[in-house]
Amino acid sequence: MEGMFGLVDQWITDDKIEFYRENGFVQVDGVLAPEELDELREYAEEAMAAPQEGLSVKTDRPGGTYYKVLNQKVNTWRDHGGMAKYSLHPRFAQIALKLTGAGGIRLFHDHLLWKMPGDSKPTPWHQDTPKWPMNESGALSIWIALDDVDERNGCMMFIPKSHRAGKLKNISLTDPVDIFEYVKGLDIAKEKPVIVPLKAGSCTFHDGLTFHYAFHNQTEKPRRALAIIYMPDGTTYNGNRHIVTDGQGLETGKPIRGPLFPLLAKR
Ligand code: SIN
Ligand code: NI
Repeated sequence: MEGMFGLVDQWITDDKIEFYRENGFVQVDGVLAPEELDELREYAEEAMAAPQEGLSVKTDRPGGTYYKVLNQKVNTWRDHGGMAKYSLHPRFAQIALKLTGAGGIRLFHDHLLWKMPGDSKPTPWHQDTPKWPMNESGALSIWIALDDVDERNGCMMFIPKSHRAGKLKNISLTDPVDIFEYVKGLDIAKEKPVIVPLKAGSCTFHDGLTFHYAFHNQTEKPRRALAIIYMPDGTTYNGNRHIVTDGQGLETGKPIRGPLFPLLAKR
């Protein structure tokens, strides 16, 4: 049965695990088979085109400041069964389990991330962890390219080892401050960014603490990606405002769990 521990060995070797722990990110090629990529593209287009009223949320409208950085839809899996197939897929969660060494992996949320052509802005350097209402670090994202990506249409860039900086202040994606101001004089400041072009169907995993950036889209077509955020089982809620947890009755200091945050992989 796919999803059994061990069967992800074709994607994730000990070298990859070591690289992830050392650098805070790792590239995994061909995480989707060609027919899966076709299917996921179709589901993703349907989910993006669907009206707003469901359980998934678009975070801005065309013309908005955030939209120029990212045309984003959060929690597509709650409205679209096809998206659920991929956002809850054991293969990706098993890889996350191996990379983190956690006892279990839960879903935090998925999001489709389109970088639109036209008036496109880069995704500024930031960490993700400060945006999430979690006490512990350890949460991570898979970022799956649905189109080939490079510097011209919005591929990502990472600072190796920057996850060791710990949790810094939150950086707004629309009105950013320079994250490197926070690490002046530290070894991290000397690390060179690694640009990661990807073929469609390949992905990166990055730790929520790793500094990352995405180029603006200079092409005529949207740059499409599916990112899924995972957290180690037992990660606790810190009570901060977040679109995914607000109004869900979570208790500060208690683990984030329940039907909206399913356990996707465990040892
Ligand atoms: C992007 O897709 O442009 C950014 C993704 C991220 O910040 O994790
Ligand atoms: Ni990010």
